[in-house]
Amino acid sequence: MIESDKGESLKAWVAFCFVGYLLCLGSEGSYGQRRDEVRSELERYLHNLTSLKNTVSPIFAHFSGMCKTIVQTKIRYHLRGVAEMSQKIVDLPTQPAFVIRPVERHELEKLIEIYRSGYEGLEEYAETDEKDIRDYLEWLYEGEPNGFLVAETESELIGFISVHTDWWDRRYQRRTAEFHELVVKRDWQSKGIGKALMMAGLDYARAKGCEYASLWVGEGNLKARKWYHRLGFEEVGKSWGVWVRMVKKLINDV
Ligand SMILES: CC(C)(COP(=O)(O)OP(=O)(O)OC[C@H]1O[C@@H](n2cnc3c(N)ncnc32)[C@H](O)[C@@H]1OP(=O)(O)O)[C@@H](O)C(=O)NCCC(=O)NCCS
Repeated sequence: MIESDKGESLKAWVAFCFVGYLLCLGSEGSYGQRRDEVRSELERYLHNLTSLKNTVSPIFAHFSGMCKTIVQTKIRYHLRGVAEMSQKIVDLPTQPAFVIRPVERHELEKLIEIYRSGYEGLEEYAETDEKDIRDYLEWLYEGEPNGFLVAETESELIGFISVHTDWWDRRYQRRTAEFHELVVKRDWQSKGIGKALMMAGLDYARAKGCEYASLWVGEGNLKARKWYHRLGFEEVGKSWGVWVRMVKKLINDV
């Protein structure tokens, strides 16, 4: 390339770079929608600047180096924006995929581990001996097989609920849907599984014509007590020192 051509082309490139940079500064607000486009434009500037640097004299190459640094900084800034936005999307809470269905008798054995893990730290309100747990699960199942529901992911059972809908509430002398048990495996808690099980149990009780739901919860099981409150259960009394009675009306409650 002859010297005067180089000079002309250099001026054109420098002007191009500045216009590019000013456009970058001025269009900050629209990057949200055009981020990918802008990024590829900036990358093209960068590429052009690199070729320019390799073909012009050292003094202009130095100048283009400065432009290059500015443009690179802009690119870094935008790439960081994209990365932060992607991270936010990744961090959004997601609903785990699970189904709720009636348990099958042969699965009761698998529920022993879930029961133990769910009640970790709350053993004073639970059976602890394996045989007692097994007998208890059998008793729940025999009482009403269709009222015994499990939550299941693709690979494992993660929680269960048991309700007997033909239970007699002695306190109020009326029929009630008695929720004898609800437990979610420890590492699956606080993901909406308990609530989904309870909703399914309440629907089942309504379908069986129950007007009330009731349960006993350990007095010191504050998380569960608060949790039942939020689902519309009210505390109506205590018994045997450590148990709190909770009741919910099922008609017109939704
Ligand atoms: C009580 C128990 C059944 C609740 O089940 P859970 O699956 O943990 O309950 P949920 O996830 O539906 O709701 C609990 C919390 O998760 C939150 N949550 C609900 N859906 C959510 C979701 N999709 N993503 C993230 N959090 C969610 C709720 O807002 C609630 O918030 P909190 O942190 O203020 O408590 C469970 O803690 C348990 O098994 N405890 C031990 C046994 C027990 O005490 N049983 C009761 C005997 S009476």
